[in-house]
Amino acid sequence: EGGSDFVVVSNRLPVDRISTEDSDAGWRRAPGGLVTALAPVMATRDGAWVGWHGAPDEVLEPFHHESMDLIPVPLSSDEVELYYEGFSNSTLWPLYHDVIAPPEFHRTWWDSYQLVNTRFAEAAAQAAAPNATVWVQDYQLQLVPQYLRALRPDLRIGFFNHIPFPSPEIFAQMPWRKAILEGLLGADLIGFQRPNDTANFLRSARRFLGAGVKAKQVHVKDAAGRYSHIARAEPFPISIDVCQIQELAARPDIIARSQQIREDLGNPKTILLGVDRLDYTKGITHRLKAYGELLLDDKVKVEDASLIQVASPSRERVETYKQLREDVEGMVGRINGQFDTIQNTAIRYLHHSYPVEEMVALYLAADVMLVTALRDGMNLVAKEYVAARTNNTGALVLSEFTGAADQLKQALLINPHDIDGLKNTIVRAIDLPRRESGRRMRAMRKQILAHDVQRWSDDFLNTLAQKAIRD
Ligand code: G6P
Repeated sequence: EGGSDFVVVSNRLPVDRISTEDSDAGWRRAPGGLVTALAPVMATRDGAWVGWHGAPDEVLEPFHHESMDLIPVPLSSDEVELYYEGFSNSTLWPLYHDVIAPPEFHRTWWDSYQLVNTRFAEAAAQAAAPNATVWVQDYQLQLVPQYLRALRPDLRIGFFNHIPFPSPEIFAQMPWRKAILEGLLGADLIGFQRPNDTANFLRSARRFLGAGVKAKQVHVKDAAGRYSHIARAEPFPISIDVCQIQELAARPDIIARSQQIREDLGNPKTILLGVDRLDYTKGITHRLKAYGELLLDDKVKVEDASLIQVASPSRERVETYKQLREDVEGMVGRINGQFDTIQNTAIRYLHHSYPVEEMVALYLAADVMLVTALRDGMNLVAKEYVAARTNNTGALVLSEFTGAADQLKQALLINPHDIDGLKNTIVRAIDLPRRESGRRMRAMRKQILAHDVQRWSDDFLNTLAQKAIRD
């Protein structure tokens, strides 16, 4: 076989391998925004997807799943600890999210990160046909573009960073900052969510590599100091499969389910909704603090309003995530203990992940959507809520620290650190006059209908193709 003309490489495949003691192993949809965005893209394009299948120490053959060609890359338990939980999620993740949690720097983690990035580059090199396009995804694989170019100079290489890129002042802390920048610069095109992420990256390349940067283009030299290629950096804000969400929102069984949810909660006047991976970047404790105070101030009454908080389990072996879970569950327990009645519960806290059908039913049931991230590359939950509100009702409270705030300008924007401001905005969202919520929702819907995830991938891949022709 000659390989694929189009290859996506990400830490995770769109499905996780789950094995149970007594039955055959099965597959489960992988968590997070990256998979939400890329799965519909891959469903409409022929190509291979290279990534980890989520099960430590298991080696799997390439396989076909929902019309996608998946090529599993194995990770040992040690690598899961050092490369994934360590360098990816205890060094890079906090560093790139404005050091909300303190990043840890360990040389053994970095060694493992390099080793695993080499393995992903080798797997991609093997999967790609001559002159193919390879699209590397996210912070776990920042060295792959450089490694891959060395193995296969014939390829067109794109990279997309799904999370923020920090300012050079923060990125400076990274002991291996030069190696990471050189890794990324192996790509022909490096995509970021926001213009500011792009500017941060280019400033870092200039400052730490002394790279020549002109009009978002970096002149990249090889190890011997000779001209190698031009790498271009640009923002490409990611989106969702708007059609899929709208179709689900029109399905009678899902509409019925949303009504059932309202009834099960006792038909409150207002349902508020939060949907997040249980991650400290999402501002869940800030949201709970504001909501608890509103109940205490009697601005929100437990018999009138219900907050549903879906917090899907994530990175559960990482210490900061364990601590967050303690904090969130402690707060939910205290608030509910104080304000619940036999009949009403202040906060429905759900530590589960749900299929997209149930998510859309929740979006349809919710009058107010709360997105209070302290820092977020994009936040696709905000976009999914807007996509589901086909009758132009509902209010979106949205943190200005999300990429989505660049596009959803008619949301009720908040600074989650400003608890009083957040409280006032939640009250405003609950009371928002029908005309105003309709005007805002219509404008936001127009934006996302014109910018769905197919357009995002077309924009990126067309730019990458042009780039390669010009070179
Ligand atoms: C974010 C990241 C993804 C990641 C996802 C889920 O969306 O940008 O790269 O896959 O979170 O996190 P996990 O660590 O479970 O893959």
